[in-house]
This record gives sequence, structure tokens and C-alpha cells, in this order.
Amino acid sequence: MNGKVMILDHPLIRHKVSLIRNKDTGVKEFRELISEIATLEAYEATRDLQLEETEVETPLCKTKAETLSGKKLALVPILRAGLGMVDGVLTLIPAAKVGHIGLYRDPETLKPVKYYCKLPSDIGERQVFVLDPMLATGGSASDAIDFIKADGAKHIVLMCVIAAPEGIAAVQERHPDVDIYCAALDEKLNDHGYIVPGLGDAGDRIFGTK
Ligand code: PRP
Ligand code: URA
Repeated sequence: MNGKVMILDHPLIRHKVSLIRNKDTGVKEFRELISEIATLEAYEATRDLQLEETEVETPLCKTKAETLSGKKLALVPILRAGLGMVDGVLTLIPAAKVGHIGLYRDPETLKPVKYYCKLPSDIGERQVFVLDPMLATGGSASDAIDFIKADGAKHIVLMCVIAAPEGIAAVQERHPDVDIYCAALDEKLNDHGYIVPGLGDAGDRIFGTK
């Protein structure tokens, strides 16, 4: 059975996605919006975290309470564009460890090329959130998840902002155990592997490199 695919349709997310699609949205605003969308997505993507019962003493009396239990968390942004989501997720889970995987798509083959990988040494014991705003062919996300699994991680969630149907299908085929959260499911890929309507090149728009 495939993992779940959650298209997050909260009005705040939908509004912010419309703003990042706009070609006239500048670097500063684009960066802020990606971070805000990541925070809102993280709220949903952490809904299944386990809790344990504890006790707390309020100024009035002792009472039952709940705190997070279970696996510790790790974030793994796919460079470059995934970096734009890190701070937004850390806003909600500030103690998460952060690994990095560097991949770029070969413009001819559209296949991902790895140039960097540094993961927390205990990633095998952590629940891992892979961050990348764009899920296009799905090659980059699938390879990144391969690297993370090779280090022993078993519970992996993919958080992206805009996904193409082709990307979702590719990740589900290679990693049926991985849940996918995205803010919008777009129509298709064009001949250059860009998501349509999409938002263009996420890395260039976050870092102002175009
Ligand atoms: C973009 C994006 C994803 C990848 C998605 O990165 O951030 O990592 O493309 O495409 P895929 O699903 O077809 O693999 P890019 O290769 O442009 O690198 P960058 O983030 O450094 O700009
Ligand atoms: N990478 C991007 O940044 N945008 C796309 O539409 C596809 C891949």
C-alpha cells in the first residue's frame, strides 16, 4: 500500500501559494512565503507524532498532561531550494537535527546529480522530514530518500510545496512507505521537466540567482 498524499488546502496556504506563483513576487517576499508555507505544512505533517501522558503542577493543582514522545526528529533539505523551508519548520520543532543533501538536475537528462551529503549520525533512530519545494519528475526526492534509508532511517516524510503528478507517482513507486505533504498538486511537467503552472525555478527565486 502506498503512503498517504496530503494536499494541504488550508486557505492561508492557498493564498500564499498564489503569491509565490506570481512572477513579479521578488526574492525577499518569495523567501518569506516559502518559509511561512513550510511552517503551516509542518503543523499538518507532525499531526501523527506520538504523545505520552505525564503530570504537571499548575499554580492550582496537579493535572494530567501530554508531552511528545517517541522518535526524535531530523530535517533534511535538498540543496539548494530545500534550504528555504528549514527555518519555517524549525519554528515549530526547534530541537530537530538538520542534515543536508546536495543534488542538482542535469538539464539534459533531468536526472539528479549528487554533490553533497551530510546526515546526522543517529538519523537511523529519527523520524525524518525531507524538504524540497518542488517535486517535478521525483528523481531528486527519490534519490535523497534512498541516501537517508541507506543510513537506516525507516520513518520518512516528504514535504514539498508544489508537486507534479509525475513526481508523486515516481516517489510512490520507489518509496511506497513515504507519506507526501504538498501545498499544491499541479497539472503536468513541460518538455524541460518544469512544473506547469508551477512557479519557475525555486532555487533561483529563493536565492535570486537569475
Ligand atoms: C530543483 C528542485 C528539486 C528538483 C526537482 O532543484 O529544488 O530539488 O529540481 O526536480 P525533480 O523532481 O525532477 O528531481 P534543482 O536541480 O533546480 O537545483 P537547485 O535547487 O540547486 O536550483
Ligand atoms: N525544479 C524547479 O525549481 N522548478 C520546477 O518546476 C521543476 C524543477
